[in-house]
Amino acid sequence: MSDAVTVSTRDGVAVIRLDSPPVNGLGFAVRNGLHAALESVLSDDAVRALVVTGGGKMFCGGADIREFGQAPPPGTPHLPTVIDAIEASTKPVVAAIHGFALGGGLELALGCHLRVAATGTRVALPEVTLGIVPGAGGTQRLPRLIGVPAALDVIVTGKMVPAADAQALGILDAVVDGDVVEAAVREARRMIEGEVPIRRTSALDDRVSESRNAPEIFAAFRKKMARRARGFEAPFACVECVEAAANLPFAEGVAKERETFTKLLASDQSKAQRHAFFAERLVSKIADVPKDTPLLPIKTAAVIGCGTMGGGIAMNFANAGIPVKVFEVSQDALDKGVGLITKNYAATVTKGRLSQAQMDTRLGLISTTVSYDDVADADIVIEAVFEDMDLKKEVFAQLDTACKPDAILATNTSTLDVDEIASTTRRPDKVIGTHFFSPANVMKLMENVRGAESSAQTIATIMKLSKRIGKVGVLVGICDGFVGNRMLYAYRRQADFLLEEGALPHQIDKVIYDFGMPMGPYAMGDLAGLDVGWRIRQRQAATRPAHLRYSAVADRVCELGRFGQKTDAGWFRYEPGSRTPIPDPVVNELVLKVSAENGFARREIGDQEILERCMYPLVNEGAKILEEGLAQRASDIDVVWMYGYGFPRYRGGPMFWADLVGIKTIYEAMRRLHDAHGDYWLEPAPLLKRLAEQGKGFGDL
Ligand code: 3HC
Ligand code: NAI
Repeated sequence: MSDAVTVSTRDGVAVIRLDSPPVNGLGFAVRNGLHAALESVLSDDAVRALVVTGGGKMFCGGADIREFGQAPPPGTPHLPTVIDAIEASTKPVVAAIHGFALGGGLELALGCHLRVAATGTRVALPEVTLGIVPGAGGTQRLPRLIGVPAALDVIVTGKMVPAADAQALGILDAVVDGDVVEAAVREARRMIEGEVPIRRTSALDDRVSESRNAPEIFAAFRKKMARRARGFEAPFACVECVEAAANLPFAEGVAKERETFTKLLASDQSKAQRHAFFAERLVSKIADVPKDTPLLPIKTAAVIGCGTMGGGIAMNFANAGIPVKVFEVSQDALDKGVGLITKNYAATVTKGRLSQAQMDTRLGLISTTVSYDDVADADIVIEAVFEDMDLKKEVFAQLDTACKPDAILATNTSTLDVDEIASTTRRPDKVIGTHFFSPANVMKLMENVRGAESSAQTIATIMKLSKRIGKVGVLVGICDGFVGNRMLYAYRRQADFLLEEGALPHQIDKVIYDFGMPMGPYAMGDLAGLDVGWRIRQRQAATRPAHLRYSAVADRVCELGRFGQKTDAGWFRYEPGSRTPIPDPVVNELVLKVSAENGFARREIGDQEILERCMYPLVNEGAKILEEGLAQRASDIDVVWMYGYGFPRYRGGPMFWADLVGIKTIYEAMRRLHDAHGDYWLEPAPLLKRLAEQGKGFGDL
């Protein structure tokens, strides 16, 4: 037929196989091939039934996302046409599914008259994660098959549904061990014999009629999802389409779906979410580390220091089934650390997200020691002791002596020079930074910091390990704050200056929250605790360059004993036991006082100015980081921000967002800001200037 679709015949049943690695995506060649195959077998009298299946690892990963937004648009037939033709077939059509049936892949299966899947298959309509709605009948057929409440859950979350659950819901008709194509051919033969009738999903009505003219069902669902879906367009559009499935005839529902799909596909949100999809896959590719670099086996791990970070890091290993030894200075410190880990797990059990047996297994994988000899056999050791260079060097020297020669020694430092730490060992090639984010057992980001001598093998092993323990690893270079915190600093700095010039904490937080961040800088500070930064600033006071603008407003808040949520007061006040920030006149008055003391005539500051003043310097710093080669690509920076700081996925990360705003706009604003305020941190990055002059964006690099 074509390279992308092949046909063979077994016993009067044509087996149409998608053959387009890696995921049998439904790009033009596959759609065209499928359509041609269909026409051919439908007109062949020797063929009495059809089985549609996928070659390789899976049935089908859905539409070819790379085709979205392509100019000129790929040719016909469109996917809905192909699926409608399958459903309309008078010869029975059975889907034989293995691996995954996702998006358009599942929609293709829903167009078949029966669905047989291999054990271990997973199905989903993940379009919502790409900022679109399913666009080939999924929002209309799925509710007809499994009812509105279940369909809403599957479509709006985009979650993976394991075969057994999919069968219980009615998405799959049978789940089989062994050869799924063989099983599908058997079902097709039963249909030929009339033992099983042809069932066209689009013609079903019983399940959707239960939710017809029942706006309250949809209103309740919208309310339930409001918090999680804040800012996203696609989840709400999915609900609308499913509501159309309940209330409208199939053809009208499909038209509504198509219109919504087309509109969202062109939206900035979908562009951003598609960017995020590819950014996440690109991030593991490293220019000078070949894909086939042999990895060091990681069977056991050790963590040095079981404080806030060490405990969380140890949990990550245990969660992934890797035995981990925790080392501390004393039995007391160990008891405290393990006590906290136990408390953390117990809270998850209470919430019903972990069983007691799972908790016991995980705790069983964590052992403790106060002797370096006991970490000698670990394949990787992650150090998470106090942030003190001399201490870290001492620990690494000890580890270098105690650990086997091919063990990787990693540091969780957030500010120190990984090369200096590595220099105390005889294996700098095996030393690397693994910068986890707090809480380390929850946050998905790992900034993997390559030292000057970190070997390709060490880097490749750590990148792979990140994935294995459920994290997203981003390779970064050594600089103050690495990628994320260095950019964060540029933004936080301007926020404090805005306070001095006329804004108030709740005003800034609201702008940033409305932009889509999980919280503003001041609520975030209160959550993390204000005292640590204050102590660091006190230590730095003597060496702070006099020409740099400095805002003392944060110090003044701390001087009042307000350290954030832990003292029920920081930038905001907190009712005991509550985490809701409440603007506090005490802080507002303090801000006004600091303004006056420093000679600022306070002025009205608008929301747009706040957004630009905070976000543009952040982007600008990202550009400097790129130019200095500390991140491989702009999309890696986007991944850091989406996973480490909750930058809204529907904006694609700061660098992608910057391209949408326009680099020229940002560059000119930075120039104006720099002229007005003269701050070193506002100096436009040369890369920003160059891109602006060339009319290009970070995406063009
Ligand atoms: N389109 C284009 N490329 C795709 C793709 C797709 N739907 N799915 C995966 N790829 C590419 C990846 O970018 C990657 O490319 P690379 O090797 O150049 O980096 C390669 O295929 C392998 O992908 P993964 O690394 O993700 O492989 P895994 O084996 O880990 O995962 C998967 C496989 C579970 C299928 C995962 O790739 C996935 O979730 N894919 C996306 C599924 C999806 O969102 N489908 C819906 C598409 S939209 C749609 O169908 C619209 C319809 O309603 C009209
Ligand atoms: P912490 O103070 O909570 O824990 C440090 C632990 O190290 C303590 O339990 C202490 O007993 C132990 N320790 C001290 N000296 C030791 C030694 N010689 N041998 C073994 N254990 C020793 O500190 P936290 O917050 O966990 O930070 C640890 C590291 O992680 C630091 O480098 C920090 O910069 C970094 N980090 C911290 C983040 C955070 O948000 N807290 C985020 C990312 C990195």
